[in-house]
Amino acid sequence: MDQRHAGKIAVISGAARGIGQAYATRLASEGADIVVTDIRPGDETVAKVNALGRQAISVTCDVGDPAQVEALGREVESAFGRCDILVNNAGLIPNQHFDDVSFEDWRRIMATNLDAVFLMSKRFVPGMKTRGFGRIINIASNTFGQMAPGLTHYIASKGGVVGFTRALATDLGKFGITVNAIAPGLTRTPGTLELGDSYRGLPQEALYAAVAAKQAIPRQQTPDDLVGTLSFLASADSGFMTGQTLYVDGGLVRV
Ligand SMILES: NC(=O)c1ccc[n+]([C@@H]2O[C@H](COP(=O)([O-])OP(=O)(O)OC[C@H]3O[C@@H](n4cnc5c(N)ncnc54)[C@H](O)[C@@H]3O)[C@@H](O)[C@H]2O)c1
Repeated sequence: MDQRHAGKIAVISGAARGIGQAYATRLASEGADIVVTDIRPGDETVAKVNALGRQAISVTCDVGDPAQVEALGREVESAFGRCDILVNNAGLIPNQHFDDVSFEDWRRIMATNLDAVFLMSKRFVPGMKTRGFGRIINIASNTFGQMAPGLTHYIASKGGVVGFTRALATDLGKFGITVNAIAPGLTRTPGTLELGDSYRGLPQEALYAAVAAKQAIPRQQTPDDLVGTLSFLASADSGFMTGQTLYVDGGLVRV
């Protein structure tokens, strides 16, 4: 594969499995070394990156916790010296009607899905500014554009991600740092499979099929459908594009 990310260090949150693991292997296949950070063990992703001939470390971190993010930053700097590409991918996908959402539920979703994007950006932007280069890619969701049921706190958090992406791009553009977001559609991952048969009010396979049928490209989405867009946003080719959210969902949501 084209080594467009050769010499770059990518920090990817939530990369132990699912979409984050696919992002890690794609960036590694194009030359990047990878920091896998997750609350789960990241060994499987590290092995996949190593098999591609790239270096990787796994750092256990709750990215919604300021002290753990600071410790992560120190580990990244001691192992690789810097972060060039920051992928804020870690996320919790709930299935909970508004009537049942407590303030604790709300805070838990906000901490992982939105606070973490702020904390990770705060930690890694100063180094990017010093070097005059950075790519920040935040993972939003197409549910922000189609308003699926049972997701009030989730959609609020992802709307925050879109807003933060737009705003942070303004503050960082003059420093060679771009900030963009990807909004995936419903993707078959461990995270969505764990939601079982009541997610969005349909049995699991019926839900995947119903969503696919509504898309302009009517097949089920997999993590591999997202990695090309991520690679582009992480590369020099997207250098004059910032503050944008790209919907990668088979054409379900049009903005
Ligand atoms: N799968 C989908 O249908 C879909 C659609 C739109 C957006 N997304 C977004 O894509 C991202 C990845 O989703 P996925 O489907 O791969 O989910 P997943 O549950 O399969 O993987 C998410 C990973 O994030 C990790 N994680 C959770 N909380 C964390 C925390 N506090 N700190 C560090 N790591 C944490 C988990 O351990 C897990 O390994 C999420 O932000 C999700 O909201 C997913």
